[in-house]
Amino acid sequence: MNVTQAEFVISAVKPHQYPEDALPEIALAGRSNVGKSSLINKLIQRKNLARTSSQPGKTQQLNYYRINEKLYFVDFPGYGYAKVSKTQREQWGQMIETFLKDREPLKMVLLIIDVRHEPSKDDRLMFDWLKYYDIPTCIVITKADKIPRSKWEKHIKMVRETLGADPRHRFVLFSSETGLGRDELWAVILEAITEQAESL
Ligand code: GTP
Ligand code: MG
Repeated sequence: MNVTQAEFVISAVKPHQYPEDALPEIALAGRSNVGKSSLINKLIQRKNLARTSSQPGKTQQLNYYRINEKLYFVDFPGYGYAKVSKTQREQWGQMIETFLKDREPLKMVLLIIDVRHEPSKDDRLMFDWLKYYDIPTCIVITKADKIPRSKWEKHIKMVRETLGADPRHRFVLFSSETGLGRDELWAVILEAITEQAESL
């Protein structure tokens, strides 16, 4: 995918701030620091449009990026950051659940997992939510450059098993460092937003 236009649109805190032009949305969920913003930057080939974290756990908004006037990436606040208060965590949960439940333009969630770590309890909860609300999900296993190629297969299997994924779930191995998986992930994203157009 050749990205000619990519712009930050809004950090939305409340649903009335979400864009109203009905372009399809692809959301990115994952632990704080897992590499969500880096992944967006890699996909759109910009160094720093999506802000990479200097303050983990501080972003309690949904960051919207409009790409080629064709779709939005919605960068969710990362979860699992230890220093977040209980109240903030609850607010986060409400915001995300409302979004997953009611957001009509949402076409797919990319669940981002670090290749080196077993999915956390929060990752599993998020994945269970996605299954419960029947939202098309692609599991993106990132930071592939951090482990040797010979171990990729074993780690992917571990992630798949820990999450309890089934055949309808796509998996893409990714690296924001090397660009591994970029074309494959774009293909998955374009398919997800095109299916929607065909069913109109
Ligand atoms: P929050 O916004 O706090 O939730 O974090 P995030 O998920 O957006 O993570 P971010 O993209 O800010 O990346 C966190 C750190 O991981 C940064 O130092 C990145 O440079 C690094 N990082 C992200 N992706 C990769 C990758 O594929 N490979 C390597 N080696 N480092 C990565
Ligand atoms: Mg981020």
